[in-house]
Amino acid sequence: MPKNFKPLVPWIGGKRKLAPHILPLFPNHTCYVEPFCGAAALFFLKEESKVEVLNDVNGDLVNLYRVVKHHLEELYKQFKWTLTSRQNYEWLLKTQPETLTDIQRASRFLYLQKLAFGGKVEGQSFGTSATSRSRFNIFSLEQDLADAHFRLANATIENLDWAKTIEKYDRPGTLFYCDPPYWMTEGYGVDFAFENYERMAELAKSIQGRMIISINDHPDIRSVFDGLFIREVDYKYTVGGPQNTSDCVELIYGNWEQEEHLAGQVSQEGFSF
Ligand SMILES: C[S@@+](CC[C@H](N)C(=O)[O-])C[C@H]1O[C@@H](n2cnc3c(N)ncnc32)[C@H](O)[C@@H]1O
Repeated sequence: MPKNFKPLVPWIGGKRKLAPHILPLFPNHTCYVEPFCGAAALFFLKEESKVEVLNDVNGDLVNLYRVVKHHLEELYKQFKWTLTSRQNYEWLLKTQPETLTDIQRASRFLYLQKLAFGGKVEGQSFGTSATSRSRFNIFSLEQDLADAHFRLANATIENLDWAKTIEKYDRPGTLFYCDPPYWMTEGYGVDFAFENYERMAELAKSIQGRMIISINDHPDIRSVFDGLFIREVDYKYTVGGPQNTSDCVELIYGNWEQEEHLAGQVSQEGFSF
């Protein structure tokens, strides 16, 4: 299997740059589940597991993964002659996804997401850069889609609430990598009430499988996940270019004792998408 697959789309809060801190914490498992997959940066980087499940509440995203898995060539054909264009972007932004076929809906979503400023999912606008090339490149797209198709071939794609996904796949050999929306920051166009973190903490302490949670540092979060094993990673969070960078701490919790991994402070690490 080729290594280092890339996420198909940029995604605000994507974890590609934090992967060196999170992937080494993964214990042996036979079933790998991302209940909040987004662009699934870690899924695309990790070794394939026997059973793999990607879940997200975002219907357009889940539709894209299904179409890449089942209608790869038809999807690619949608982009014939497509260029990076603000006008095209704005027309597509105005198009109602309900009026489209699944393949057209996937191509609209892929185009909008690739070109969205800062990988934003909510409140999207056309991103521009004077220092890097457009993220939409018709020549590299064919290979990127083929790679994603290959990586998704054996994965199950779900469109459930995160907690339902955990209930469905919880077994002793399962690893859940939970990357929920950050608490008290901008989001993904859906509400994510604090009760979700409370439920996650309860599940972490009661499920048969193992769980890793990555989340922003906030007193409420530290309090709700108190009792789980914790690791802290300092990183630089960047949205839409180096001019918008801030110093942050990512908390990584685990529901089992793994002292050598889930303890201590890790040095400064750049993080952007
Ligand atoms: C921080 S992002 C995940 C980023 C991902 N790990 C990556 O590398 O791209 C959080 C995701 O949670 C999803 N989400 C929000 N509420 C959800 C819910 N109730 N159930 C499932 N997914 C949800 C959002 O759509 C978003 O894609």
